[in-house]
Amino acid sequence: MRVRKIKWAEEFLESQDVIIKDPSSMAGHWKEICHCDELHVEIGSGKGDYWIAMSQMYPQCGWIGIEKNHSVAAVALKKVENQMHDNRRFIVDDAKNISEWFAEKEIDVIHLNFSDPWPKKRNGKRRLTHANFLNLYKKMLNDDGKIIMKTDNRKLFEFSILEFQDQGFRCSEISLNFREEEHPEDAISEYESKFMAKGNPIYRGVWQI
Ligand SMILES: C[S@@+](CC[C@H](N)C(=O)[O-])C[C@H]1O[C@@H](n2cnc3c(N)ncnc32)[C@H](O)[C@@H]1O
Repeated sequence: MRVRKIKWAEEFLESQDVIIKDPSSMAGHWKEICHCDELHVEIGSGKGDYWIAMSQMYPQCGWIGIEKNHSVAAVALKKVENQMHDNRRFIVDDAKNISEWFAEKEIDVIHLNFSDPWPKKRNGKRRLTHANFLNLYKKMLNDDGKIIMKTDNRKLFEFSILEFQDQGFRCSEISLNFREEEHPEDAISEYESKFMAKGNPIYRGVWQI
């Protein structure tokens, strides 16, 4: 996701108490902080549409957004500035450090919604479904936990299916055209709606340990 560097981003992010500045100090306590029994984490929240919409649709669950790009994170958080955020928090950092932020088995659901595809082979390790990331997620998911992935990028989806399989995950749901049917339970971000408008199929899979 390309966003020009935003001048006001750093100062704005500094002032937002929805951002957890030292996420490792929260490991094991996220459910308390979010007043919930079910913890959802979206990795790569981009401009925040999915994280915001889902946290409003499911207020009984906790929703943690993670975004490494400061300007993009600022755009996301501007959308919920001055709003109550009992059940949501945000981490502005690279998810490669995720295992420092959550305790083992603390997360119920990880969402990978339209992750960057990184098409060049040499960038494969940056894909959020690369084996290195899947092995981090595995430790933090509880025994019934799941990873839900949606993308319009067929190559990324094919790559991910094999990575999940190689790392011993079980695929419990798969769709090669998720929006063919109505899914009111799942928010459509601006990002997704652009792909839908082009007529691109949306691929979706759910994986469990
Ligand atoms: C296409 S956008 C996501 C769109 C958003 N999830 C939605 O559904 O509207 C992908 C985002 O993932 C972020 N990202 C990629 N790798 C990341 C990482 N390792 N840690 C945190 N964020 C990452 C990028 O900076 C980018 O903003």
